[in-house]
Amino acid sequence: MDALHSILVDLHSINRWIILIFGLYVLFVAARGWFGQRAWNESARKFSKYFLIVLDIQLLLGLTLYVVFVTKQGGFEYVFGNPASRFFLMEHSVMMALAIIVAHAGSHLIKMAWPDDKFKRMFIFYGAASLLILVSIPWPFMPGFGRPLLF
Ligand code: HEM
Repeated sequence: MDALHSILVDLHSINRWIILIFGLYVLFVAARGWFGQRAWNESARKFSKYFLIVLDIQLLLGLTLYVVFVTKQGGFEYVFGNPASRFFLMEHSVMMALAIIVAHAGSHLIKMAWPDDKFKRMFIFYGAASLLILVSIPWPFMPGFGRPLLF
């Protein structure tokens, strides 16, 4: 159980950086397309898809971690009585799941939009999802539940 937990935490932590890099890049592409009035293109569609894929991988890792975390710590009763653990099982998980839902809803609305509106929607929805992600990551400076930048 310890080895599985440690592998999952490391993968979850590394994937956070892949998500942030993709997030930054899709926002740059969206802003450039929106403000530069560029035509919607295949590369923007592809990067939008990659962003969703790394988010979905993180959701799967997160859900598995959730179960392993609760099991390892001795059940819900103990975990919810501990503020640091509660942060991961409530605030962190719920806000991140919300961010992933916002990104998926955005992707659907981008597909539905007229070509002139696609970059704008991409910027708004992926921007909102990235903001939610940024504020819900347990950064090392967060008192009580801060975690390392990598391992
Ligand atoms: C974009 C989405 C997400 C990002 C960027 C993210 C990022 C992180 C980071 C950086 C950690 C600390 C890892 C470490 O200790 O080194 C963490 C821990 C954790 N995350 Fe996420 N997470 C995301 C989504 C989720 C979701 C959707 C869930 C659950 C449904 C989840 C559940 C957890 C749990 C339970 C921990 C505590 C792991 C432990 O210490 O055992 N995460 N997450």
